[in-house]
Amino acid sequence: MAAIILFLLLLSIITSTSAIPINTPKSFSAKLIHRDSPDSPFYNPTATLANRRRSAHQRSLQRYNYLRHRATKSSSSITPQAQSDIYPITGDYMMQLNLGTPPMTMMAIIDTGSELTWFQCEPCDTCFPQNLPIFDPSRSSTYKTISCDSENCNKFHARACEQNICIYTIEYADESTSEGYIATDYFGVASSKDSEKISIPDILFGCSYTAMGNFRENITGIIGLDMRPLSFISQLGDTLDWRFSYCFGRATHTDSSSLIVFGDDAAMFGTPTPMVKQDGPEAVTSIYYLNLLDISVGEDRLYVPQGTFSLSSEGGGGVIIDSGTEMTFLHPDAYELLAWKVYEKMTLMPWNAKSGETQRCYMGNAEHLEDGVTVPVITLHFQGGLDVELQPWHTFRVQNAEAICLTLLPSHDMANISIIGNLAQQNMFVGYAIKERLVYIFPGNCDAS
Ligand SMILES: *[C@@H]1O[C@H](CO)[C@@H](O)[C@H](O)[C@H]1NC(C)=O
Ligand SMILES: *[C@@H]1O[C@H](CO)[C@@H](O)[C@H](O)[C@H]1NC(C)=O
Repeated sequence: MAAIILFLLLLSIITSTSAIPINTPKSFSAKLIHRDSPDSPFYNPTATLANRRRSAHQRSLQRYNYLRHRATKSSSSITPQAQSDIYPITGDYMMQLNLGTPPMTMMAIIDTGSELTWFQCEPCDTCFPQNLPIFDPSRSSTYKTISCDSENCNKFHARACEQNICIYTIEYADESTSEGYIATDYFGVASSKDSEKISIPDILFGCSYTAMGNFRENITGIIGLDMRPLSFISQLGDTLDWRFSYCFGRATHTDSSSLIVFGDDAAMFGTPTPMVKQDGPEAVTSIYYLNLLDISVGEDRLYVPQGTFSLSSEGGGGVIIDSGTEMTFLHPDAYELLAWKVYEKMTLMPWNAKSGETQRCYMGNAEHLEDGVTVPVITLHFQGGLDVELQPWHTFRVQNAEAICLTLLPSHDMANISIIGNLAQQNMFVGYAIKERLVYIFPGNCDAS
């Protein structure tokens, strides 16, 4: 597994011009930082466990709403702004990268659920506070805006034009907005080997000069990883063989490491499952939908009725694998079967959450998540023969001094969208082979990679 983080940096020296003579590498990797880790700009040492659980729950619900908006975009009843993207700034794993020449350090959330990569830029009409310095394009010798008639400008659906400079606008679900130039510059990626630095020319991103609204956290930017044409992975598609993988370390182990790998060395282990082909607008077809067939709790199959997880033509239903949602959401019918079977198999006493709360909690503690007997393994059976075993520490977590609670929730509205969240993906190599339309999910230890 050590081999997956190796990469090749090719330097082609062009002597006679001032062009920067660096080729795009075929593969590179970067460390990921969890928002609750001490390295993160969001780290709040005074947050209690209860505070963190509450805000995590809140973020998961916001994220669910975002993905629901996106998935059901084609149905006119939900969003009047069919032209613009709608997403809240949530997500849990950040990648450090450099932008510009000379390079400035950015900390960007990786997001398999969005397209445009963007950062706050100077001069900022309206900026939300961020801890790292704001990117200043006037100080980067390699920064370029793009013209309105360029091919890339036309690929972005929510665009405008100002003195022939391509402008983007993003409106969020909560009516926050971000607006700025669509530009290109050098992206520098620090590999997991600190000494090795890679620079990729002319990556397109949004340089935000106005970000207004409800930004509660300090975000410096987002790396968009969905399948639309301007996402980070699509821009580098052919170079990186349309592949990337990540491994999220154990969320409760503050010293665990997480990694993202782009290109040839991305981890594609075991049996893959196909991405679901979905008709409809690009915003919908570019989401990573998987075909979940059934679920087992311990040895018992739930026999979830066929079609429960299917995508409807209105964009409801379906199963999305997502980097930015913490909890896992299941179709309410499947969730009821699951929660009941878990209850049957648990030896712990139920812990009564407040009425109306949908989480299922038991009297227990962290040791019960590790002993291998108290909590049953939950297996997700995907099309193509991929079975993903979720261990107790995937499906439960410590809620407070006396209880552990399921990290799986029922879809809370009528859209019935299921989302495989990032807690369920801890210590798994999750590989996306976009050209082949396959997703690999394989258990492993991210720390060892
Ligand atoms: C955001 O950044 C500001 C300025 O550095 C800081 O005072 C504030 O505590 C940060 N907020 C969060 C949630 O990290
Ligand atoms: C969601 O599932 C319920 C129960 O199976 C069903 O009655 C409802 O029509 C579904 N909603 C959508 C939007 O498909």
